[in-house]
Amino acid sequence: MSRSGPTRAPDWPQCLDTTAHAALRAEFPLLQTCVYLNSNSTGAAPRGAERVLHDYWETLRTWRDDVWQDWHVGLDRYADSVAALLGAPPGSVVTDANLSALLARVASCFDYRPPRDRVVTTDLEYPTVPFVFRAFGRYGAQLDVVGSGGHHLDQDALEARLDERTLLVCVSHASFISGATVDLPRLVARAHDVGALVVVDAYQTVGVVPLDVTALGVDVVLGGAHKWLCGVGTAFLYVRPDLVPDLEPAATGWQAGDRAFTFQPSTDWAPGARRFAGGTPYPLTSLVSQVGLDLLAGIGVEAIRAHSLALTQRALDRAHAAGIAVVSPTEPHRRGGVVCLDVPDGEAVKRRLATRGVICSWRGYLRVGPHVYNTLDEVDTFMDALEKELHR
Ligand SMILES: Cc1ncc(COP(=O)(O)O)c(C=O)c1O
Repeated sequence: MSRSGPTRAPDWPQCLDTTAHAALRAEFPLLQTCVYLNSNSTGAAPRGAERVLHDYWETLRTWRDDVWQDWHVGLDRYADSVAALLGAPPGSVVTDANLSALLARVASCFDYRPPRDRVVTTDLEYPTVPFVFRAFGRYGAQLDVVGSGGHHLDQDALEARLDERTLLVCVSHASFISGATVDLPRLVARAHDVGALVVVDAYQTVGVVPLDVTALGVDVVLGGAHKWLCGVGTAFLYVRPDLVPDLEPAATGWQAGDRAFTFQPSTDWAPGARRFAGGTPYPLTSLVSQVGLDLLAGIGVEAIRAHSLALTQRALDRAHAAGIAVVSPTEPHRRGGVVCLDVPDGEAVKRRLATRGVICSWRGYLRVGPHVYNTLDEVDTFMDALEKELHR
């Protein structure tokens, strides 16, 4: 098993030369312990996180109250770094513990008054999406779930369901089940034509698939740190800046108010995306997540995407050659960062691969998610081990 990087010149688009790639790999100690192809589930933690954790303890050990000011600088810096990665202006992103909390906050901005009371989504979403909007049924939200009849969204069918009754259309940029991406420019154009807002769960793409929210004109984008962004415990929300003044979350907290730091009750909203903040934030996760984000931003998502496509292509080619059923789309523009394989007894196969030091995930299908720090050799190691498992 190859554990230390490519044994021959890598034939991926050279976003990093071999030396720089080895240096990048050295930033992720986990890669020295296994073949880690699981970044669609949980990204590898960068070595620099250890220093942040240590400093955090030092801060707690020597606590003074004005630390909160530094922590707010750190929190804002992380939110603005996410914004930069999304092609969004500073101040247009807010963070919180998880995507579910932020989605519910977005959902609480609407009255769901007929005739515009529909929330259109699909049966390929992460379970939090239908669950949150089902809960808002109490306030009038009419949930309309478009069936995929399989693993791939029929975008024509989705768009056919959008009309003047549609308030929101909420879809993932790439499905966590199949890795298939939605054609966002097309969806945004169609939704805006009928006066609906587009809410995108980009957890499975941000960090591995380029996304320019400003160019797209998309209304709301959510995602989080612990997958392709190599962070931990924090999620983010972007709202199109010119839409922000129209949205007033009922689920809110004191940090969303204009007088938050006077500790008086606010009478208006804080500027920008901060109106979607909640209560006291947890700074550690943003501070730790900054490390991975900086490493990835230094490479650039276009280059990461080229690398990712080369590695997922290798997995696809090997799967096709071995006769393994592929669930993900094979066209590069239709797939995200993951390749999903339909293998018998997949969950047990995943566990047995782990005992061989090959780490992937299983969510109905075996999911292999190589990131920019992985190599073609590692994808081959995965496929070799998988073929052995299937022919046991
Ligand atoms: C597409 C997608 N959305 C959302 C989530 C997670 O949401 P939350 O942060 O609420 O746990 C995940 C995975 O963890 C995901 O794959």
